[in-house]
Amino acid sequence: MTEKRHIAPARGRLGVLVVGYGAVGTTLMAGTMLVRRGLGRPIGSLTQMGTIRLGKRTEGRVPAIKDFVPLADLGDVVFGGWDIFPDSAYEAALKASVLRREHVDAVREELEALRPMPAVFSREYVRRLDGPNVKKGASWWDLGQQLVEDIERFRRDNHCDRLVLIWCASTETFLAEGPQHQDLAALEAAMKANDPAVPPSMVYAWAALKTRTPFINGAPNLTVDVPAVMDWAAAEKVPIAGKDFKTGQTLMKTILAPGLKARLLGLLGWYSTNILGNRDGEVLDDPGSFKTKEESKLSVLATILQPDRYPDLYGSFHHVVRINYYPPRGDNKEGWDNIDIFGWLDYPMQIKIDFLCRDSILAAPVALDLVLFMDLAQRARMGGVQEWLSFYFKSPMVARGLYPEHDLFIQLTKLKNTLRYLMGEDLITHLGTEYYGYFDEK
Ligand SMILES: NC(=O)c1ccc[n+]([C@@H]2O[C@H](COP(=O)([O-])OP(=O)(O)OC[C@H]3O[C@@H](n4cnc5c(N)ncnc54)[C@H](O)[C@@H]3O)[C@@H](O)[C@H]2O)c1
Repeated sequence: MTEKRHIAPARGRLGVLVVGYGAVGTTLMAGTMLVRRGLGRPIGSLTQMGTIRLGKRTEGRVPAIKDFVPLADLGDVVFGGWDIFPDSAYEAALKASVLRREHVDAVREELEALRPMPAVFSREYVRRLDGPNVKKGASWWDLGQQLVEDIERFRRDNHCDRLVLIWCASTETFLAEGPQHQDLAALEAAMKANDPAVPPSMVYAWAALKTRTPFINGAPNLTVDVPAVMDWAAAEKVPIAGKDFKTGQTLMKTILAPGLKARLLGLLGWYSTNILGNRDGEVLDDPGSFKTKEESKLSVLATILQPDRYPDLYGSFHHVVRINYYPPRGDNKEGWDNIDIFGWLDYPMQIKIDFLCRDSILAAPVALDLVLFMDLAQRARMGGVQEWLSFYFKSPMVARGLYPEHDLFIQLTKLKNTLRYLMGEDLITHLGTEYYGYFDEK
């Protein structure tokens, strides 16, 4: 056993500041309210339903995760946040039409009380959207100060002991890392100069760190994935995590690809296409926003399959990802995958997947777990990039120079081992008593 790490207790209220009262944001809020009233079950949430094995298999110690680590109670969670539309969370949830009306109506009063604060927004970064609930300011720097005031006001008014901020807003247009992102002085100078290398999401991230608020990036934007923010977060012991919630097609990819790799089946090509009709689909119809998403979705296979190490099997596969905006589907996306594989003596085979999923139903438990684990991380004084939460992201952030781990099962082992480490329990590698073929490669 290792020594248990000191973790401050989850006393008092946890404020959850949501950027974006859209499909994911409102499904997270309404879902949490329904669960805490016993009107719905938190399916898909590790913090609410997961267990963790401790010690040897013969010991029979398998507590619920929420009984093992000191997580905030859902009853102590208070929501707030920002959107470019002034709709309350109730109106926004109805418009997003992820949840049925009876579910939204069951928590109507609570949702109606949630009015979004005016957002930091610019159409330069999300071309398909425009809304009236937007702050005015002379520069990104000025707007950042206004966000800091919002955060501090929210903390005071809601008597919050701790806060977490989660980006559930639209995908911004593609931005590459530049000199403006290398250190905090350069970033702040760029904010003061209104530099286009600073997107709105980075202004929220700056305000979060300024107020020592953990920041989660649910979209594929650059946002906190730059040295300036990563180094600052590590130095100030503020947890950050990203990017892009792992749901839908990419979730399936990171479940299936490790299996193909484990059995050393070759891959010729993986063609993925989606139809999606919600506002996210409309935003992603813009080539700039789509490029940000595409980069995030494409990175997955190469890291799992390691073409450098297995050139005969994975040296030259074609990977194509398409998203088509198709309004009749709303949030109920359909994702098709055609996978061309080959086996013994190079005989070809095909796998077809048709996943009729509900994007935000898959994303909400991910968002809830991230909020609760990021609050835990801060109370355990774990600052900087929280790699152990890679399990939840399509493009997991990692310390500079490392490659991200995409294999869902390795990610889960890493997450649970981090919890064991925090609580002073032995880490479980499964080696010795159990054997998972793909473990020895990494
Ligand atoms: N639904 C999923 O399963 C899923 C999975 C992975 C990632 N994501 C990402 O999560 C984000 C949200 O997805 P969604 O389906 O809820 O989209 P959505 O379009 O329903 O909601 C986004 C909301 O963000 C608001 N917004 C945009 N820019 C803003 C800003 N600067 N400040 C405040 N509010 C702003 C919009 O007005 C909108 O209400 C998207 O970036 C999406 O790519 C979603």
